[in-house]
Amino acid sequence: MIRIVIPEPSLVLLIGAAGAGKSTFAARHFGADEVCSSDGLREVLSGNPADQSVSRRAFAILHRDVERRLQEGRLTVVDATNLTEHQRRPLLRRAAAAQVPTIAIVLDLPANIVRSRNAGRDRVVDPDVVERHLATLRRTVDGDELHREDLAGIILLRSEDDVARARIERRPTPHEGGRSADRAPVTHRSADRQPGRVPDDESSTTRPNGRARNSTHTPLRR
Ligand code: GTP
Ligand code: MG
Repeated sequence: MIRIVIPEPSLVLLIGAAGAGKSTFAARHFGADEVCSSDGLREVLSGNPADQSVSRRAFAILHRDVERRLQEGRLTVVDATNLTEHQRRPLLRRAAAAQVPTIAIVLDLPANIVRSRNAGRDRVVDPDVVERHLATLRRTVDGDELHREDLAGIILLRSEDDVARARIERRPTPHEGGRSADRAPVTHRSADRQPGRVPDDESSTTRPNGRARNSTHTPLRR
């Protein structure tokens, strides 16, 4: 089992190429009312989850929804590719403003699995787009990009087996919530609140950047 400790409330960013399994993971581990999906919003706006012409509006709504939810102290999962710093930044900014931590769950599956999953489903994304996503994800993961961002935990799932063994453990965390100029900043990084992936049968927690204190944790670099 791979225990993924999620503070509640928090912002959970699913990260992965089209076809990697983000929506499937979200449906398996979170309630439908906890997930904000870019595909879902595109479908609402145009009747077609793949209609890129409404992406801008879809993300404007998604950002607004995420902001409202986090301000209310609700666990919020963003089901979008979230591959680039540019895509993640507006979400991280909103989590920081609401004083909730952000956890990244990266579906970094082998490229061939992603390609064949995409090819085998009803809504096939252009294979060139999937290749671009896979290349961007490689840069993000191998370039250690995520460790430079304000993430309370980084969970890398790198195989079908990792994904199958993942279990979410929610950890209720007091939420000071909302914006307030005079409120002291809340740290979510104290020792008893450190979120992230906990290796099998170990009680150790990950450091704020997601790297474990011990050698059994999967390092970010391959
Ligand atoms: P986009 O919405 O295009 O970004 O893709 P996604 O990352 O949300 O992928 P999605 O969850 O739609 O999964 C893509 C395909 O892979 C679907 O046909 C799923 O049924 C399949 N799939 C997803 N996760 C798993 C898994 O853990 N095991 C297996 N066997 N298939 C999976
Ligand atoms: Mg999806």
